[in-house]
Amino acid sequence: LTTLAASSHTFSGLRPVNLKTDLAPLADLMELAFADSMDTGGRAAIREMRALSKLGGGLNLLSGVNDLVAGIGLGYVWAENGRLVGNVSIYPASLPSHLPKTWIIANVAVHPDWRGRGIARQLMQTSMDAVRARSGDIILQVEERNDTAYHLYDSLGFTAEGTFNHWRRPSSARKPPAPDHPLAYITRRSRGEWQAEYALAQRVRPAEQGGIGWLRPLDLYYFKKPLLAAISDALNLRSVERLIIRGEDERDILASLWIESAFGASTTTLTMMVHPDYAPLYSEALLNNVTRRFEGSVLVTDHPIDDTVSNYLLSKYQFIVTRTLTHMRWRASHD
Ligand SMILES: CC(C)(COP(=O)(O)OP(=O)(O)OC[C@H]1O[C@@H](n2cnc3c(N)ncnc32)[C@H](O)[C@@H]1OP(=O)(O)O)[C@@H](O)C(=O)NCCC(=O)NCCS
Repeated sequence: LTTLAASSHTFSGLRPVNLKTDLAPLADLMELAFADSMDTGGRAAIREMRALSKLGGGLNLLSGVNDLVAGIGLGYVWAENGRLVGNVSIYPASLPSHLPKTWIIANVAVHPDWRGRGIARQLMQTSMDAVRARSGDIILQVEERNDTAYHLYDSLGFTAEGTFNHWRRPSSARKPPAPDHPLAYITRRSRGEWQAEYALAQRVRPAEQGGIGWLRPLDLYYFKKPLLAAISDALNLRSVERLIIRGEDERDILASLWIESAFGASTTTLTMMVHPDYAPLYSEALLNNVTRRFEGSVLVTDHPIDDTVSNYLLSKYQFIVTRTLTHMRWRASHD
């Protein structure tokens, strides 16, 4: 490898990201590498990178407050004669503080003309070494059909933890008709029912299959939120409504739907968990309720791909799959 002291115009090899100079060329690289798969979030990130690149020296200050910049700043790039042709970003995952430190690897990209030469592998290995020095697991998401990337992560010791469809129901979707007769008795979960709801989640969202979803490991925290976290949500005008359907004994929870919205945000995020013995009836009851009440707003949900009953019902209620992502984890303890 050429040393870092070499002029940045001729440098070839791997080096840490330099926020002052790299953001604009990285935006170009990411746009090219992800041309086929970029979603709205990705395009927004590219725009933000281009805007931030104009700040130059001010960026290091910003890296403390802006998540996008912080992650890019911790990552590595590959240069060929000064031109950026590869990138890996490392982000600290924002998880409840009692959980083990976890890092996210993202923006893994190599310019099409330089692929197949081991550049991504070297960028990944260096990034994993950097995380090893700080300790903690690494998680990432890969498109289900991206065999090249999957093979790369698999060969580096990452294991798949479940695959989720990202469903989106556009605001223009029609309001579904009310059922002829009530499908189930839907009510709000009370604070004291966290154990019953956690038991349902253990069954339908086991930890080894990715837990509740991306950045939502199966953990009691999400069922029995500490008062301080609940207050912080209220101050930030975030709300979560928990609809449930109880079992006959009134103790078990057989179905649950979390409806999360942030004040002023245009999308509402759903998390649906239904005991398999009570699907499709209870799944339909919940979906009918929420799509009727939230007519005119965008609804999104990540749902495990192997739940065929829910897949059918989500389609019936005019949700559309926009991405299918496999969640992978590299465990620090395996070393
Ligand atoms: C995925 C990507 C980063 C790989 O970059 P790369 O520098 O070509 O990868 P490497 O040369 O380090 O090869 C890594 C592995 O990928 C596989 N691979 C590379 N090129 C391949 C090709 N053309 N066809 C099939 N497999 C290929 C190889 O099997 C290689 O493993 P090996 O070392 O055991 O042979 C690159 O293809 C890319 O930018 N793709 C578009 C963006 C993307 O999908 N990023 C991943 C998001 S999760």
